[in-house]
Amino acid sequence: MAATTVTYAPYIQPGDAGPLDERDQIVVTWQTNEAVPNPSAYKVQFGLGDDLYTSVQPVGRVVDNYLAADASLPVPPTAYGAHTSYTAVLHNLKPDAIYSYRVTGPGLPAGGFTSWFPTRKTGDHFAFTVMGDEGFFPTRSGTTLLTDFFARIVHLMYNSGKISLPGQPPRPQGEFALNTGDNVYNTGSEDSYRDFWMPVWNSDVDSADRGAPFIRTFKNYIVAGNHDIGGNGDFVNLLATAGAAPYAGQTGGGDALAYFNNYYFPLNGPAGVDPFYVFNGDTSTNTGAFFSYNGKTYTSPAATEAFRASTLVDTGKGPKRQIDHMGNYSFDYGNAHFVFLNANPHLFNALVDFTAIFAEAPGNFPPYPKVLREWLINDLDSSDKPWKIVVYHQPAFSSGYATLRNNQMRQITQVLQDHGVNLVYNGHEHNYQRTRPIRATAAVTNVPTELGLEAVLMDMAFDGAAHRVPDGIIHLVEGAGGNRDFDGDEPNPRGQGGGLDQDDSATGTFVAGDGHTYPQGPASWLDTHLTVAEMAPFVTGAGQGPKFTVKFKAKIFSFGHIVVAGNKLTHYQISEPLLPTSSATTLNPAPFGVDYYGRPIRDPIPDTMVDPATGQVVGVSPPGAPALLDKWTVEKPDLDDAITVRLAPQPYGSNSQMVVVTNKSPHALNGAQLVLRDADDYTGPLDDTHTLAGDRLVITLGRIAPGAVTSVNVPMRGGDLHGVLRSATAQPVRIGQGGDDRP
Ligand SMILES: [Fe+2]
Repeated sequence: MAATTVTYAPYIQPGDAGPLDERDQIVVTWQTNEAVPNPSAYKVQFGLGDDLYTSVQPVGRVVDNYLAADASLPVPPTAYGAHTSYTAVLHNLKPDAIYSYRVTGPGLPAGGFTSWFPTRKTGDHFAFTVMGDEGFFPTRSGTTLLTDFFARIVHLMYNSGKISLPGQPPRPQGEFALNTGDNVYNTGSEDSYRDFWMPVWNSDVDSADRGAPFIRTFKNYIVAGNHDIGGNGDFVNLLATAGAAPYAGQTGGGDALAYFNNYYFPLNGPAGVDPFYVFNGDTSTNTGAFFSYNGKTYTSPAATEAFRASTLVDTGKGPKRQIDHMGNYSFDYGNAHFVFLNANPHLFNALVDFTAIFAEAPGNFPPYPKVLREWLINDLDSSDKPWKIVVYHQPAFSSGYATLRNNQMRQITQVLQDHGVNLVYNGHEHNYQRTRPIRATAAVTNVPTELGLEAVLMDMAFDGAAHRVPDGIIHLVEGAGGNRDFDGDEPNPRGQGGGLDQDDSATGTFVAGDGHTYPQGPASWLDTHLTVAEMAPFVTGAGQGPKFTVKFKAKIFSFGHIVVAGNKLTHYQISEPLLPTSSATTLNPAPFGVDYYGRPIRDPIPDTMVDPATGQVVGVSPPGAPALLDKWTVEKPDLDDAITVRLAPQPYGSNSQMVVVTNKSPHALNGAQLVLRDADDYTGPLDDTHTLAGDRLVITLGRIAPGAVTSVNVPMRGGDLHGVLRSATAQPVRIGQGGDDRP
């Protein structure tokens, strides 16, 4: 019998752990080449500090073998074949603690594989990192070597607390990561995890060329991008791509959708919305998956079912098929609530529009499926955490050339802003972008036009420094994790060569394929009517309005480091390591743009090269110091003195109550909600603006402008309403207790 090879070294995952309870948990997982699991040969020991006093027996299941369920399907010569995934759930962990663990068994080092991890924080001070779009097609002109840009970013994220930024205070270590998707190319193939993703994210060596032992130490919460579930995110080929050799970045056969087998995230999302379903509004068909190889297409209910069955695992709350739930999930960390949403085209009638922006107006998308909207609303409403952060892959608001047409998630912008969301992190666009705080209007889902109501209204005062209370949601693109720049004029592999350049180092104009001349740089950004100058052939006055993007950093790879300190949240955007030298010239004084202080960014360290024949990194990069690209702080002020929440007198015997909110503060309250306790006798409707979470009734009020008075009728009996008015903007105000004129 052949020796067991551990194909993926042990790493940690959160498992089915959403809200933070008294005790935390973690899943330790690894993969072997075994076609038959042998769990009794393995053992996981763990404990607080260095003391490995508890022992767990892992379970094993076979993955990547679903083609074997149907003998009529071809098996490509590059088929990955059956592997075993092992999981061990470490229960009953103390929050706010550091644990060690050791995995022993066949294929692991003598004496075992050891690492450590922090459990979740329960207080309101913590830090995390965010990046995305590190997956890439391994192409490079002129050489057989591959370029790897994301090892340097993973290395920096692993050491985020040690990076000193000139002129900035020290920051605590980011103890978990958000990932905005597109981790591997293509169709979430196991081949790509094997060749690219695992070696960097779970590297034994911590260096800018190799990556870091990140995922054996820190949790990495990932949202499903289009490449994680199929190239376009509309349909999934479960068979193979012809010519999927090692390092091809393609599906080798029988190993697609490994997102649902390599990761273990909370399973609190709704069923029936995974990539196998294509939605058009509220109706769906089970037509998202197919089997195609060498130009021939097959159907195989048996292999489809075998894939789904392979995702069955107990990661903390009983056995579930991960594919059923994991596309959308939520969890708490400290005083923040995070919601990860699938934004892929299969939820929007599989519409994927590749027409150039100058050739045709962007189209319309069907509404967000009701089953997801209701889950999202109830999930947001049931959380009392003051920070609500949403992550999805395709941005609703970006000025990136690649996503101007990819605006399907505008369908839920109003839900997010009305239900208390502070920030949205996206990827898909391979750069960093920040919008002003924006508020969607009723026109936000229309086909863009310069006529009539703007699609978004902007807060022009917020600057993240002197003015820290945003009047709207800030949308971020965090897609500069390692794939080439869509917009820059950088050559392959860092960029795609010539094209419209939208970052802050670009000036002049660009001549498109149709002969039209368009502005470069900030003049090319999306305006509040959601048009750009490139739409001029068919939208009168296109791109002439004010722009909602305030920061756009292309040409340079980067990640976010976010520090939460109670009611303040500060985001630092940090670049890849830089050389002490610059290739700037008089004609091109800032080839990589400018940093937070407005100074030209020096040249990045040389490209890391990987030999696909050996999998080894070629050469060693010199050390480099990152630059600060952006910094902003959001604050949720205490407005208790300026906001009153009162019960209006009602006639004797009335079956309802009237709550009157008066906002005398200088800030608009966005995402305002009344949260009423002991609401058992509530007799009104339950809908998008009235939800029940346990015995708490949440009534969504939307935005309350400065100086405004809002009254809400609450169909509840009894004289004693109690609860709070909460909002995305400010700290909660108790009913009957706000204001300096209280009786
Ligand atoms: Fe993408």
